[in-house]
Amino acid sequence: MSSGLITSAYLLAAVLFILSLLGLSKQESAKRGNWYGIAGMAIALIATIFNPDVQGIGWIILAMVIGGAIGIYFARKVEMTQMPELIAALHSFVGLAAVFVGFNTYMDQEEVVGVMQSIHLIEIFLGIFIGAVTFTGSLVAFAKLQGRISSKPLMLPHRHKLNLGALVLAFLLLLIFVNVEGGSTFALLLMTLIALAFGYHLVASIGGADMPVVISMLNSYSGWAAAAAGFMLSNDLLIVTGALVGSSGAILSYIMCKAMNRSFVSVIAGGFGADDTVTSGSDEETGEHTAVSAEDVAEILKDSTSVIITPGYGMAVAQAQYPVAELVRQLQALDIEVRFGIHPVAGRLPGHMNVLLAEAKVPYDIVFEMDEINDDFPETDTVLVIGANDTVNPAAAEDPSSPIAGMPVLEVWKANQVVVFKRSMNTGYAGVQNPLFFRDNSVMLFGDARDSVEQILKYM
Ligand code: TAP
Repeated sequence: MSSGLITSAYLLAAVLFILSLLGLSKQESAKRGNWYGIAGMAIALIATIFNPDVQGIGWIILAMVIGGAIGIYFARKVEMTQMPELIAALHSFVGLAAVFVGFNTYMDQEEVVGVMQSIHLIEIFLGIFIGAVTFTGSLVAFAKLQGRISSKPLMLPHRHKLNLGALVLAFLLLLIFVNVEGGSTFALLLMTLIALAFGYHLVASIGGADMPVVISMLNSYSGWAAAAAGFMLSNDLLIVTGALVGSSGAILSYIMCKAMNRSFVSVIAGGFGADDTVTSGSDEETGEHTAVSAEDVAEILKDSTSVIITPGYGMAVAQAQYPVAELVRQLQALDIEVRFGIHPVAGRLPGHMNVLLAEAKVPYDIVFEMDEINDDFPETDTVLVIGANDTVNPAAAEDPSSPIAGMPVLEVWKANQVVVFKRSMNTGYAGVQNPLFFRDNSVMLFGDARDSVEQILKYM
């Protein structure tokens, strides 16, 4: 392949990646967006492999076969609810790859002098720094999401000063690194160790409830790590792709911060989920709850003219979206208005609920985001809270000492009647008890969400 052809292929791939992001921003076009991404990546891979500068094609193909086989195995095996863990693990690979590329570039430096050499050394240093932070940060996120380590925030004394100290030290090492002819191996190695510890500490000090933001933040970091690798390898496409991932991840983090009422700057600094002043939020029960049967819920529904369904993680676990879609059809047949209210962090990954509802062929036009539907609860007869907990917790709005205080939530308690579908009185992801369950207008339908909805269907 000539270099002109390769550049054109890279340009085409970059355009396809942009179209892919555009497509993924709306449910209706998400599938098309995925196809653009797949096509762009295929073109990028072919152009890279057939680049005349690339040697050892046999090794590359072998690595691709092994990597592809592992990828296919995990993609088939992983449950939708385990997606965030998988994503965190994949981000750690990007980080590690950037570290390897950095050390490889350092050991295999071309003869450049003056400013160009300094620029080249800065690229190496930053690439390894971002890669190492992404690597350990993602591993901690993976372990927290899998429950291998506690999701409680690690509260080291002076943690913000520790973070700041690590950054200052890394900056000083950068100065040493670029001022030594060809770079200082000692400075590079020391910085790598600091960056590994920094990445670990950054994510370890963030509480479980704030993990969604961490995941998208690490997504952003992995993009910047890839872009840094692109600079080191002088690969324009990797720079563009990395920047696209980096900036879209940053935008998503920002949107999530807004959705959870967190400060974007404190997320970047780490440890924001661990406010020392927030102490309450015990998981003890706080009153009497009323349990009802599926038959009772069917009657409540038949007496309603408007229903809002707010699904959460439990709907995903139970795979209840299919009977839920059937229930929607039956309610609509009875002329009852049914809509869905989706919290931005419902479930365990961005867009989780939307994907499940799309799978079950729920029409998009009855699925609303939290901001679009929150004002409508007071005029709603019945809300079905299906496997959601933190995202419908009034304590977020009413109890300043709650760990989730300030997080905007679906204000379901303002409806005339609320039916909560869950298996027990256990807390949700954030480990905070939910006063909603004890309100006069709330009733509990205990059991697996799928079984419960199927039971209701029998009485409709
Ligand atoms: P959660 O607060 O996690 O609560 C889910 C509820 O579902 C639990 O209380 C559980 O109660 C119930 N449940 C579990 N399995 C069930 C089943 N088979 N049938 C019926 N109910 C079942 O859910 P949410 O409201 O969706 O909130 C999401 C939480 O996850 C937030 O705290 C959010 O910050 C966090 N998070 C979100 C993301 C993203 S990006 N969305 C990523 C990581 C973390 P029982 O055990 O009593 O059944």
